Amino acid sequence: MATAEDARSGLVAGLVRDGRVHSGRVRAALEEVPRHLFLPGLEPPAAYADEAVPLKFDDGVTVSSVSQPSMVAIMLEQLDAGPGHRVLEIGAGSGWNAGLLAHLVGPAGAVTTVDIDEDLVEGARANLAVAGAHGVAAVTADGAAGYPPGAPYDRIELTVGSTGVRPEWVAQLAPEGRLLLPLTVRGSQLSVAFRLTAPGRLSSASVRSCAFVRLRGAGATPGPDAALADSGWTVQPADPGVVDPTVLAEALRAPGADRPAASPGSVSDLWDGLGLWCALADPATLRLIGRPDDGLAPALFPLAGGRAGLGVAAGTGCALLLAEPGATIRSFGSGGDVAALRLAALVEGWVAAGRPHAADLRIDAVVPELAGGGDPVIGGAGGQVVVDGAGTVLTASWHPVAG
Ligand SMILES: C[S@@+](CC[C@H](N)C(=O)[O-])C[C@H]1O[C@@H](n2cnc3c(N)ncnc32)[C@H](O)[C@@H]1O
Repeated sequence: MATAEDARSGLVAGLVRDGRVHSGRVRAALEEVPRHLFLPGLEPPAAYADEAVPLKFDDGVTVSSVSQPSMVAIMLEQLDAGPGHRVLEIGAGSGWNAGLLAHLVGPAGAVTTVDIDEDLVEGARANLAVAGAHGVAAVTADGAAGYPPGAPYDRIELTVGSTGVRPEWVAQLAPEGRLLLPLTVRGSQLSVAFRLTAPGRLSSASVRSCAFVRLRGAGATPGPDAALADSGWTVQPADPGVVDPTVLAEALRAPGADRPAASPGSVSDLWDGLGLWCALADPATLRLIGRPDDGLAPALFPLAGGRAGLGVAAGTGCALLLAEPGATIRSFGSGGDVAALRLAALVEGWVAAGRPHAADLRIDAVVPELAGGGDPVIGGAGGQVVVDGAGTVLTASWHPVAG
């Protein structure tokens, strides 16, 4: 069996090769902080597989996990933490990422990591001690409030998903500080690295796709996903107030009518590119996720062992983009034709814009209570304005479109 050191070198080499790691600092942290010491009980090959490892369940649902190494690496590159920085992590989990942060900030810096569950914090503390990581304070607290005793922070990183940019986090950033968080924007979870540009005003330095467990406690919000009656399908609406799952389930029982469409390309293009494009442009956008053997499934796109689809709702009907036969838009129910025209126009617009992905998005944010007046809408002309779950005004614009 490979030693832990061999397994770790292999993992890091793969992350460098795949472009997840590009700075020497992040590479050194991943090489020198042993992930297996944060996953007691796992053999090295499993501890160094590029996979998330669930840590804790509640009612069968994962509430804590050690994140996938490639995602951790992507986010550390986005965070740009360096020697001497004061960093707050929200979501201590196993303590592995806090250990990596401590390596990045060095002896002149300081890392505070908080988790809402005492047992996880105790585990993180023990793991950090075994790994010999110094300079980390692991604290039990609801990170929705940030952690005022250690503020201001040069960097705040959430390793747990939020539906909004909470004013508490922005208020605890040092001038020119950076806030990195998995943020749900119109149903898509995006890892957004925001730079503080003025009090209460932020601008994204980078945006990536991600998938994290969501905040519990005071920052928890109901998930947007809903089960479609009698179908085994889950719908993820861009805006839960616009797409009615009962109406959608009824529409999908009708026979559909097909028209040709441009191909979205890979499923990653479909999900992180076209899906995000559609959701930002049209709140009636929906994503469907289901088992490989259910009803429409064979016509939809393979995703993580199941099937996925993208569509638009209108009236009591909807239209879906299908992978089979060829690239097709199928309309269902009354209003389905209108939905099909809208979906076709969105696909054409995305193709004409060069098939942008999450990484091509810029997000500007204004926290009204901290910004003290001025225009709450900033960023590229023609950007989509969304008020997030914390009341922060987000303006999302595509680089190729907004220039
Ligand atoms: C994906 S895990 C974090 C993984 C961790 N960074 C690591 O290196 O192992 C997300 C964590 O966020 C925590 N969490 C959820 N809601 C929270 C909240 N309101 N405040 C602080 N932590 C929270 C969960 O308990 C969970 O441990």
